Amino acid sequence: MKPDVKTFYDKRSGTASHVVWCARSKACAVIDPVFDLDPASGHTSCKPIEMIASFVRERGLRLGWILDTHIHHDHISGASELKRLLGGTIAIGDRVGEVATAITDVYGLEPHHIQLDPFDKLLADGEHLPLGDFTVEALATPGHTIDHLSFVIGDAVFTGDTLFMPDSGTARCDFHRGSASALFQSIKRILDRADDVDLFACHDYGAAGRRAPAWHSTVGAQRSANIHIGNGTDESAFVILREKRDASLDMPALMLLSLPLNIRAGALPALSAHGRIMLSVPLNVPRNAM
Ligand SMILES: [Fe+2]
Repeated sequence: MKPDVKTFYDKRSGTASHVVWCARSKACAVIDPVFDLDPASGHTSCKPIEMIASFVRERGLRLGWILDTHIHHDHISGASELKRLLGGTIAIGDRVGEVATAITDVYGLEPHHIQLDPFDKLLADGEHLPLGDFTVEALATPGHTIDHLSFVIGDAVFTGDTLFMPDSGTARCDFHRGSASALFQSIKRILDRADDVDLFACHDYGAAGRRAPAWHSTVGAQRSANIHIGNGTDESAFVILREKRDASLDMPALMLLSLPLNIRAGALPALSAHGRIMLSVPLNVPRNAM
């Protein structure tokens, strides 16, 4: 049984946000919504959220769940803004506190930052949320980050930052207590399903020879063709490849600006005394402290 899915792609961050619903009951969830921030100008936009909100309203869907697969470091979560527009319950993995603690240390944030109030629900591995004729199963898939969840809804898995498109491989594992070995085991949990199970990724940055962004694949396609993990790649070969690649990657452009916001589900700080939203970033942080 497959849920209905509509994906909204944010070009700046390469993020695919998914609206998932039960056609009969109209119960709906939104996975990984984006709040837009241009790091060069400091200008923000709710447009990606408003597009999703319009779609939900036009289709007469009832938004029950706003789900972040993990604390993102390449875009700002639109969870709080979407909740402000449509209501719903914001949920994330129950290991988010481990990521939040590391971030508050690095940023020297006040203790209220790790109270995680904006998240209404912290999900344990195997927990199920109702979604009309479906449930949303939280599947712990650590590796990219320690708090990472995938969401199993009928015969579809929303894989967040674990697997990308087969021609793009897998997600980096060098922040937030990431681990290439853990990612390998998590991907096994995803690919240990029937070939025709649909997979939906959270990101696509394009790949050589392919221009259009894409986010949908299947278990069978990933098993046979994923350039990092397909075709029987074993754990030790994957770990070597992943760690070598991670060491060569630049820091994500929005990392320093997004982290203190994302541990608050994307909620912006209150206006400062002179009427502006202020974000502060730490400098010269060792890479392994993140
Ligand atoms: Fe991520």
